[in-house]
Amino acid sequence: MAKYKIAWLPGDGVGIDVTDAAKIVLDRIGLDAEYIHGDIGWEFWRTEGEALPQRTLAMMKGTDCAFFGAITSKGKDVADKELVPELQGKGYSYRSPIVRMRQLLDLYICLRPCKAYPGNPLNYKDGIDLVVFRENTEGMYIGVEYDKVPEEFYAVKGMDKIPRHAAVSFRAITPEGSERIVRAAFEYAAQHDRKKVTAVHKANVLRQTDGVFMEAARKVAAEFPGIAFDNANIDAMGMWLLKNPFNYDVIVTTNLFGDIISDLCAQMVGGLGFGCSGNIGKEYAVFEPTHGSAPKYAGQYKVNPIATILAAKMMLDWLGEGDKAAQIEGAVAAVLAEGQVRTYDMGGADSTLDMAKAIAAKL
Ligand code: IPM
Ligand code: MG
Repeated sequence: MAKYKIAWLPGDGVGIDVTDAAKIVLDRIGLDAEYIHGDIGWEFWRTEGEALPQRTLAMMKGTDCAFFGAITSKGKDVADKELVPELQGKGYSYRSPIVRMRQLLDLYICLRPCKAYPGNPLNYKDGIDLVVFRENTEGMYIGVEYDKVPEEFYAVKGMDKIPRHAAVSFRAITPEGSERIVRAAFEYAAQHDRKKVTAVHKANVLRQTDGVFMEAARKVAAEFPGIAFDNANIDAMGMWLLKNPFNYDVIVTTNLFGDIISDLCAQMVGGLGFGCSGNIGKEYAVFEPTHGSAPKYAGQYKVNPIATILAAKMMLDWLGEGDKAAQIEGAVAAVLAEGQVRTYDMGGADSTLDMAKAIAAKL
């Protein structure tokens, strides 16, 4: 029996291209794993009314962790129209599978390291090395939304300020949810010799929700006197990160702000071809590239697989295979430093699989 069981969830679009590429590298490094394919993606929304079928969730329960590619999602109108006729008008509504996995499996950490590898022509500045900790289960992502204000809300003081026809979305932040993500960020900083944690918020406007987040952040920070702690507003952070990325080290923030800031950080180290994610809970984790399914490139084996290969590296770290993880990172760094093999985003003409093979060849 293999040492690990990994749920293999390529999804659709370029999710298939990039997971094929990551598999070349995982096979080469000789990870003793059984990979179990799981159905997930747009096709299952169309034909079953659920992009993440129950059978896939059930299969995942018997695995150590999951590896996810990408899936296509479309706006509400298009999604409804693309459902097979038998399912139309039956009340199905599209839900993002990755958001569901994060919530159902309580994968509360979204870990997004963003490192500028020397030789990457897309680096915004050489030497950038940031790590984003995004809270992954609450905030603006709880999915409590209304297309107009429910009548019973008007019983609550202050709600009469909101016009009845307004669409509303709730943002919920708990002290526990905030504490555990901030603690994860500080523990990571302590383990990886990082000097500073910056909490990002908008507490001057979102006084209640970000008040809770910042109170928890200060409390946890006090437990780590050896690590510097500061904070910044999300808007200012958008400027400061560009102005001086070297002032930051580990960034911790709530769900939506983390979504935004992690794309900014990814762009500073080469764009979405380099952004990797770990969605990590107490017992389970799902690793994925940060990018989407890029349908226009689907099946062309053109996109950069490095984000996905670095997600595989993160998975190995999480499984306790630190040596293999370090080897993969070293191989990625070597290929980037040599600059011989480059995908189109890097100004080259090499394919997704050429890049994967070049990385595998360094192992
Ligand atoms: C991400 C993505 C997702 C998110 C989408 C696909 C729902 O942008 O992982 O950052 O918003 O979390
Ligand atoms: Mg995002």
